[in-house]
Amino acid sequence: MNGTSDARRLGILISGRGSNLHALMDASAHGKLDARIAVVISNRADASGLDRARDAGIATIVLDHRGWASRDEYDLALARELKHRGVALVCLAGFMRLVGPALIEAFPNAILNIHPSLLPSFPGLNAQRQALERGVKITGATVHLVTGELDGGPIVLQSPVSVLDDDTVDSLSARILIEEHRIYPDAVRAVLSESWRLDGRRFVGSEEP
Ligand code: GAR
Repeated sequence: MNGTSDARRLGILISGRGSNLHALMDASAHGKLDARIAVVISNRADASGLDRARDAGIATIVLDHRGWASRDEYDLALARELKHRGVALVCLAGFMRLVGPALIEAFPNAILNIHPSLLPSFPGLNAQRQALERGVKITGATVHLVTGELDGGPIVLQSPVSVLDDDTVDSLSARILIEEHRIYPDAVRAVLSESWRLDGRRFVGSEEP
């Protein structure tokens, strides 16, 4: 679909397993999310999430991040592919790359990310391990708009998860993931509703979801 823009066309960026991609696919397939996944792009050819998308007949692209002259060049290539498919909202779903200004400027306030902590606590890599090692009793999942600040954009939705005394990184990650899968489709729906505004750093939505 060449250059045609539709406010409900999603582009999903992944690097690995793609369970959040699956949650979005499921919500879209079962009418819980009125949106269409136009393309799934991975920076890694071995991302198993690509198979999930292919099995469902969704267009996939591998765009390796290596070998570009700069981050901007790579991000511009991503933006081109997304625009080419008429994507209106970009969802990072375990996309383990920093997103730079070239992509952010191509999709202003139209890139979402899911992160496995209650931001602004524990940004960056290994958020679940960070939470465990810091000894917090509550952590969780966050969906936020992507800005130039790492994991620092306006928060759309969060969900708390208790840290148990006998938690390991794996057990905690598994419980956080359940919340991720629940809130990501809700956050996408909230952003697509367009009945929201930014008040400074605050994402102020309507009553739903
Ligand atoms: C998820 O836990 C996601 O929150 C995290 O990577 C995992 C991807 O899983 N993302 C980050 O840590 C980004 N900083 P998935 O591939 O099964 O969706």
